[in-house]
Amino acid sequence: MSTLLVTGGAGFIGSNFVHYVLENTEHYVIVLDKLTYAGNLNSLEGLPANRFEFVHGDITNSDLVDNLVQRVDAVVHYAAESHNDNSLVDPRPFLDTNIVGTYTLLEAVRRHNKRFHHVSTDEVYGDLELDDPNKFTSTTPYNPSSPYSSTKAASDLLVRAWVRSFGVQATISNCSNNYGPYQHVEKFIPRQITNVLAGLTPKLYGTGENVRDWIHADDHSSAVLTILNNGTIGETYLIGADGERNNKDVIEEILEIMGQPRDAYEHVIDRPGHDLRYAIDSSRLREELGWTPKYVDFHQGLQSTVQWYMDNEAWWGPQKQATETRYAEQGQ
Ligand code: NAD
Ligand code: DAU
Repeated sequence: MSTLLVTGGAGFIGSNFVHYVLENTEHYVIVLDKLTYAGNLNSLEGLPANRFEFVHGDITNSDLVDNLVQRVDAVVHYAAESHNDNSLVDPRPFLDTNIVGTYTLLEAVRRHNKRFHHVSTDEVYGDLELDDPNKFTSTTPYNPSSPYSSTKAASDLLVRAWVRSFGVQATISNCSNNYGPYQHVEKFIPRQITNVLAGLTPKLYGTGENVRDWIHADDHSSAVLTILNNGTIGETYLIGADGERNNKDVIEEILEIMGQPRDAYEHVIDRPGHDLRYAIDSSRLREELGWTPKYVDFHQGLQSTVQWYMDNEAWWGPQKQATETRYAEQGQ
């Protein structure tokens, strides 16, 4: 058994990872989370008290981070400002958390010689044309579009530099769009589901031709655990489950699952700089580390996600109005 420090463990993917680890391994988990608008302690309810503890704090606080890193065997770093739309309104928190926060963690794992896994995004590679036969690989040049993705790209480069210059024992993963339980209602899929549940009209940016490569959060968790256990230090692994779909198809599928007319949504103004398409080539992770996704049926995964939001209004209800007020100010 070993002890993991999971940063951002009260967020969407971090909390799914903590549940996954506690259910599938013997590890002890410490979560470090600032509880920004995106963090939610209710996502960590029901975890075994003898194998889990929560620390409320900021990853840019070097004394706090240093103390915690000394106590653990490995750090799995999810904490971030994660939402593109927010980064277009106020980029500053993205620089602080995504860049300075990652730097602070890297310095601590360097001092204490601890294993580090950095969770990143496919958005660092920019976007693809709809008909491009190529997908992103670990050698695709970095070409981020938004303040969010450029700060994630910066954080990846810091990790690579700390590996090469200081011998830090780190791996990186770049994953595509996640869906599943505990995702904040600002994000595309939960926003549309909760719009229907709240009697609001679902909102599609622009034409909806933009393609995302969907993966269930549990499959992301199993991939990160695989890399943590068996990945090669210094390497970058792309995580994806061959889930390419355009936004128009996804919104119509949600409406159909929820018993609504497939066209019961409205088009709103597009996101500035909106990436057209992401697509992941995850063959390295599959072939070298033997990982395979479990959620290969997107429709089924979407149905269970819809059901989760129907059953958990107490979880998402308190976030909904503030989120929609924020979007309304942007005309979205
Ligand atoms: P999220 O916004 O749901 O959660 C982020 C968490 O980090 C929150 O709990 C928040 O309170 C915490 N946090 C923010 N700033 C912090 C700080 N300074 N100190 C400590 N905690 C802080 O994000 P998510 O969607 O779960 O994404 C998690 C990670 O996965 C991010 O690094 C993101 O770039 C990456 N990622 C996300 C996706 C996706 O589809 N959502 C895909 C690939 C990679
Ligand atoms: O690719 C991985 C990335 O996926 C992560 O790094 C980010 O943290 C995560 O937020 C996500 O980024 P996107 O910008 O792709 O996700 P979002 O849920 O914001 O939007 C998905 C698509 O849906 C995108 O093309 C914009 C569109 N959209 C979004 C919203 C909120 C709409 O059409 N309507 C909406 O209301």
